[in-house]
Amino acid sequence: MRVPLVAGNWKMYKTVAEAVDYARRLKSSGSPAGVELAVCPPFTALLAVGRELAGSQVGLGAQDMHWAEEGAYTGEVSPLMLKELGCRYVILGHSERRQHFGESDEAVNAKVKAALRHGLVPIVCVGETLAEREAGRAREVVAGQLRGSLAGLAAQEAGNVVVAYEPVWAIGTGRTALPEDAQEMSAFIRALLAEMFGREVAGKVRIQYGGSVKPENAAGILRQPDIDGALVGGASLQVESFLAIARAAAK
Ligand code: 13P
Repeated sequence: MRVPLVAGNWKMYKTVAEAVDYARRLKSSGSPAGVELAVCPPFTALLAVGRELAGSQVGLGAQDMHWAEEGAYTGEVSPLMLKELGCRYVILGHSERRQHFGESDEAVNAKVKAALRHGLVPIVCVGETLAEREAGRAREVVAGQLRGSLAGLAAQEAGNVVVAYEPVWAIGTGRTALPEDAQEMSAFIRALLAEMFGREVAGKVRIQYGGSVKPENAAGILRQPDIDGALVGGASLQVESFLAIARAAAK
C-alpha cells in the first residue's frame, strides 16, 4: 500500500518568523492518520522550521538543490547542507525552475542522483504547458521529462522517488485538472515507470498531483487510484487549508 504524501511547496513565501509560527500551529494541530505530511519552506527558514517540527511526524523538504556536495557555485545549496538541516525531501525540476531558471532534464537528473546518494527523497516534478496539451503533446512531454529526469537510476533507487504530476497550466491559476485527466496521466506515468524499472517498482512509487489543489477540489483528485497525494502551493500557506487537504488524502 502506498501511503499518500501531501507536501506543501511554500515557494518564495514566508519570513522565518512567519514560518516558525506556521510550524508551531501545524505541530500542535497534529497530522491526520494514514497520510504523510511534509512542508518545503524557503532555504532561509529550513533550520528554524526543522527545529519546530522536531519530534512531529511532519517531514521537512527543500525546494531545490545543487548536485555537488560542495564547490564554487555561488548561490547554491548542496545535498549535504540539506541533510544537516534534517531534510527528508527535496523538490526537483519544478516547472518554475524549468521555466524561469532554464533547468534541463539533464540537470534534474544529476540532482535526482545526488539526492538518492545522500538519502534524500526527491520529489520529481513533470508536467506539460497549455500549448503542449492543446497540441496533443502532453504525454510525449511528460514522458520525455520523466525519462530524462530518471535516466540511469537503478530499479531499487527509483522505488524511493516521488513523482509529482503538475500540469503547468494548473499551477497558481485556480484551474485544476479534471480528476479523470489527472488520473489518466498518473496511470500513464506509472506504466512508463513499469517499462523503465519494472512493475514492482512502479507499484511502489508515489505519484502526486499538483496544480491549484484546494480543500474544495482535493477529495475528487485524491480518490483516484494512481494519485498518491498532492504537491500544494498556495493552499499550503495556511495551516487550516493544508490540513483540510491532508484529511482528504487520508480518506
Ligand atoms: P498551486 O497549488 O499554488 O497551484 O501551486 C502548485 C505547485 O506548483 C506546487 O509545487
